[in-house]
Amino acid sequence: MKTVAAFALVGAIVMGASPALAQTQAADPVAQGQRVFLACKTCHTLEAGGKDGAGPNLNGLFGKKAGTVSKGFNYSPALKAYGKVWDDATLDAYLANPTKAVPGTKMVTRAPADPARRAALIQYLKSATR
Ligand code: HEC
Repeated sequence: MKTVAAFALVGAIVMGASPALAQTQAADPVAQGQRVFLACKTCHTLEAGGKDGAGPNLNGLFGKKAGTVSKGFNYSPALKAYGKVWDDATLDAYLANPTKAVPGTKMVTRAPADPARRAALIQYLKSATR
């Protein structure tokens, strides 16, 4: 009897918690994007003066030309020649499939295929890089 009651209690907690969690994710794309960014964190920092890692520091990203965001970083010739300015649309294309948007880029990690998760990631980048 005790076991059954414990399961019922756990069930109630899980069922009560998940719609609330889903709501938080939908209502707060920046928080969702921050979780998506965990996959990028091994290579990128976002804060002003942050160090370059395997990838460049991304502070001041929006409105800058591709391959110019972190002055000291050794960019690929392909990204430097890309010529586009980073905004929601250019970032979305690059992050969805970097080597397709910029053949020859050194970055091969893709952001999630789900456009909503990429949009959340871009919202987070916007808030965390300026
Ligand atoms: C394994 C390391 C690695 C991971 C993981 C990675 N990147 Fe990169 N990223 C790079 C490298 C290297 C470059 C520079 C590419 C080049 O020079 O062609 C780059 C370039 C970029 C640029 C262009 C910066 C500029 O100065 O123009 C953006 C934006 C970017 N990455 C975002 C992301 C995001 C968002 C993620 C997570 C989905 C991510 N990266 C994951 C290594 C990485």
